[in-house]
Amino acid sequence: MRAGLLGMGKYNPPQVVTNQDLEKRIDTSDEWIRSRTGIEERRIADDQTNTSDMAFEAAKQALESAEISADQIGLILVATVTPDHSFPSVSTMIQERLGAKNAAAMDISAACAGFMYGVVTAKQFVESNTYDYVLVVGVEKLSKITDWEDRNTAVLFGDGAGATVVGKVSGDRGILSFELGADGGGGKYLMHNKFIEMNGREVFKFAVRQMGESALAVTEKAGLAKEDVDFLIPHQANIRIMEAARERLGLPVEKMSKSVHKYGNTSAASIPISLVDDLAEGRVKDDDVIVMVGFGSGLTWGALCIKWGK
Ligand code: UT7
Repeated sequence: MRAGLLGMGKYNPPQVVTNQDLEKRIDTSDEWIRSRTGIEERRIADDQTNTSDMAFEAAKQALESAEISADQIGLILVATVTPDHSFPSVSTMIQERLGAKNAAAMDISAACAGFMYGVVTAKQFVESNTYDYVLVVGVEKLSKITDWEDRNTAVLFGDGAGATVVGKVSGDRGILSFELGADGGGGKYLMHNKFIEMNGREVFKFAVRQMGESALAVTEKAGLAKEDVDFLIPHQANIRIMEAARERLGLPVEKMSKSVHKYGNTSAASIPISLVDDLAEGRVKDDDVIVMVGFGSGLTWGALCIKWGK
């Protein structure tokens, strides 16, 4: 039996910041942001809401959706680059709040590819019969490391959390293949010192190449052809990068997950958040073949091919 995703959850902070709001603060325009990134608005967490609060809300929903109780979880993995503190980890903070008393807990630092790294790690523990259930959360409060005066980055990011429970699924469903990778030589292009610092053009070039290659690689590793893929869930960084990956797979527009216009780039949270909306709106159904693909600072990347369903 393969590991698969048993349930999903997400949290989007209620406060909406539109492109027009940003126009009032920095030298940018709604037209520039929309045409270069596809982003129309993003959600920003308030001062009282930290990363662990968003992770907790998404995790609670994922457990409900997977129909398991907190004490059944063997391991909690939280992918984030914006933890509440450098220690204790966000994973231990939500372990306590969920009452997941039988769970080990650790955070994963792989930036926007973090959710992919988390799910692949969870799969290893589940398929080796080490743990029955692993909770994986992707969560970011990027607003606290964003320089709101820097138009190169301030327009791109948002806050939020997405979560899943990884466990065994039935029949031929589950994670069919994966790919993880890293190129530390590109670390300089996307860094956090005091704030996020980015060479947008270099990250863009890398992302366009890597997203397409990884999406194709996991499809082939699963023994499938491009035509067998029902739905693509790319990291929601920039619509132009997402479109490039979609075109490499030869999929029509309606077969790609798109939530970047509503939430901006929420880093490790973007893929699970987008998937929750796809499930709620009927774009992903049982037995669909889904490709998820992400990239981020490091540079890192990761992709999964999943036959959906429990
Ligand atoms: O999760 C990973 C996170 N990072 C990414 O995904 C970033 C990947 N890169 C990108 O998405 C794109 O490179 C950006 C959206 C960041 C920039 O788009 P671009 O088409 O690569 O624009 P550019 O950097 O080539 O800049 C074009 C112009 C520049 O003006 P000049 O030098 O041509 O006069 C910028 O100064 O646009 C200017 N510009 C802006 N103008 C209005 C840059 N940011 C803005 C802005 N508003 N917010």
